[in-house]
Amino acid sequence: MLSRREFIAKGTETAVSIATAAGAGLLAGCANSATSHPPMVSSFRDLAGSRSLRAHAHRHGLIYGSAVVIPIVQKNTDFADLLSEQCGILVPSNELKWVALRPSRDTFNFGPPDFLYDFAQRNHMLMRGHNLCWHESVPTWIRKIDNKDEIKQLFVDHITTVCKHYAGKLQSWDVVNEAIDPNDKLPGGLRKSFWYDNVGPDYIDLAFQTARTADPNAKLTYNDYGVEGDNDGDAVKRRLILEMVKGMKSRGVPIDAIGIQSHLNAGEKYGQGVADFIEAFHQMGLEVYLTELDVNDDATVSNDLAGRDAIIAKTYTEFLQAALPNPAVKQVLTWDLSDRFTWLNGLGSHRRKQPNRLERPLPFDADFKPTDCFYALRDSFDHRKRA
Ligand code: XIL
Repeated sequence: MLSRREFIAKGTETAVSIATAAGAGLLAGCANSATSHPPMVSSFRDLAGSRSLRAHAHRHGLIYGSAVVIPIVQKNTDFADLLSEQCGILVPSNELKWVALRPSRDTFNFGPPDFLYDFAQRNHMLMRGHNLCWHESVPTWIRKIDNKDEIKQLFVDHITTVCKHYAGKLQSWDVVNEAIDPNDKLPGGLRKSFWYDNVGPDYIDLAFQTARTADPNAKLTYNDYGVEGDNDGDAVKRRLILEMVKGMKSRGVPIDAIGIQSHLNAGEKYGQGVADFIEAFHQMGLEVYLTELDVNDDATVSNDLAGRDAIIAKTYTEFLQAALPNPAVKQVLTWDLSDRFTWLNGLGSHRRKQPNRLERPLPFDADFKPTDCFYALRDSFDHRKRA
């Protein structure tokens, strides 16, 4: 006789038998599922071990993980369990950014990210660093300095101190985040930012060189968004990033990996564009990480939950089917693990067009039950040939 838990877990792999045995109650949401394993388990604990995203990714040469808002892990032990069961790698959502880490010129707030590193270690997970330089995370105190040499020195010192603090510990660093924006009409499509204005156009090279010197082991990553879709705007950005990275390689700048953020929009077209982009980096010997995957369906009209979930899951599947066949892709991280904490619901700077309708972009819902996205992810891992 199987326990209920074993029974339900078994049912995730034999959908028909559980549907017959457990009746219609468990079938909510199945009809429109775009995946081959409809969401039928009643608790995330039924999806640990060999059923987890972590295990399925691992079997296919991938590491699966998630962004984490650290205070939530500190308070919510169920969520901490969920993370440790599902993830092989974690990344702090905010706590390593300048604004969080450098409240003042003389203070480094390493406590929260150190906590996450210890948590990851205890649970046999890796950790990535995000990020050393981003146009959106510039502390007020540094903006007040009107001496460019001093700012450049602070930039180098910050990267040195932070990389040394974690030297040999982090799997990778997003060294520079979101440096390209063709709308700013600067040479090379560079974004106009505090760092560009004050450190100079070669701030990207400088950041990577400084990071390598301080931590020779972390994979140094350039991370950006708006490169995922089969549309003209994303194609322009892909070309600019490719040119930038080729230039860095030709100058001997140490770069190891490209982070494709992968904040997708439900129903948009993802395919050849991202596949070719990844292959170009594969040819250059770089690794590729899908660093911040989620699917925003704020712009879709339907309010039918099952219908929304099906479109979201299909978007995951199409994107992953284009990206994952390439052996350069080594990691997939979603930007958080549960819909309860997604930045898309306003836990951060993101603003929704439909403020009365919560977003559902992640593998676990607000009650930590697996969603269609969970199965879309897991099936996509399973369809990948071992790299
Ligand atoms: C977001 C966080 O999730 C929010 O909590 C914060 O308020 C703003 O930043 N691209 C990135 C991430 O590289 O750093 C952003 O994270 C999401 C978009």
